[in-house]
Amino acid sequence: MEPTLRTVDRVEFLVLVDNCLDSLSSVPKHVSLEWPRLMRHGMKELSGEWQCCANHGLSLLITARLADVEHTIMFDAGPENYTLERNAPRLGVDFATIDGIVLSHGHWDHAGGLPAAVRLAGAANAKRSVPVFVHPEMFRQRAMTLASGAILPIKAIPNPQELSQLGANVLSSTEPQGLCDDFFWMSGEIPRVTPYEKGFPGHLRRSEDGSSWEPDPLIMDERFVAVRVRDKGIVVFTACSHAGVVNVLLLAKESFSPTRLYAVAGGFHLSAANEKIIPETIRDLRSFGLSVIAPGHCTGWRATHALVDAFGESVVTPSAVGKTYSL
Ligand SMILES: [Fe+2]
Repeated sequence: MEPTLRTVDRVEFLVLVDNCLDSLSSVPKHVSLEWPRLMRHGMKELSGEWQCCANHGLSLLITARLADVEHTIMFDAGPENYTLERNAPRLGVDFATIDGIVLSHGHWDHAGGLPAAVRLAGAANAKRSVPVFVHPEMFRQRAMTLASGAILPIKAIPNPQELSQLGANVLSSTEPQGLCDDFFWMSGEIPRVTPYEKGFPGHLRRSEDGSSWEPDPLIMDERFVAVRVRDKGIVVFTACSHAGVVNVLLLAKESFSPTRLYAVAGGFHLSAANEKIIPETIRDLRSFGLSVIAPGHCTGWRATHALVDAFGESVVTPSAVGKTYSL
């Protein structure tokens, strides 16, 4: 299927939830920090009570603008309700403007805050139910195998029935699709092409009959979101990159060629067992000629350092809660 994606004038994304806070490090012109945003939305004195919080997970609020039309989606909702409920009002998020919520894959650290997101979106606009885009394979319970061999279950994510009861319009599909009048594009399943991006070793899911665990290293329900910005190119949002960030970008490149890839933001999953593929990943990332790289969440500090070393501070600005990127 031919992807449909409009060209917008600009895109802005706010980091609502991420693993880290960094209110002080200087940033390039296209990025603004948490504190000025807190002040714009009511912070009169610097205090602990006014700060956002970090938690293991990701939630981005992405706004695309074309002429005088704006659309906003939430890409993931972080690991639990509290983080979203604490950060969103401090950062001045108007839930009435959220046209849809995209879940990147079926993991707690991206889906745990969905009930709060759906509730807040419903409260802000009682006349409609917010669309929540999911993949049918996201909802089988997952687990990971520890070094000891023991199995650690992963908390089940809110299921479609629960989300519907909270007021969501749950839309389930495996296919790529344009969202919000084709201001955004959500990918389908991401082909695994590179020889070194092997997913999440030791990741498991419940068998179909629920009686046992079965290997699930590929997490094929994962998708990414893309926006096409005039005079710049494709901006790719990848929340956890279990597919491998190079595989993600290869699909984005193929889907929108000849438009160039301009930026990538999100979690690149180059921590833990994946630290060993940092060199190949950096080598192959060079081929995309990216102008903006915003590593966050599960990228890990070693990969973040390697990205800065390879591409420089003018390209790489690590993500942190409350940062706003304007592209
Ligand atoms: Fe994640």
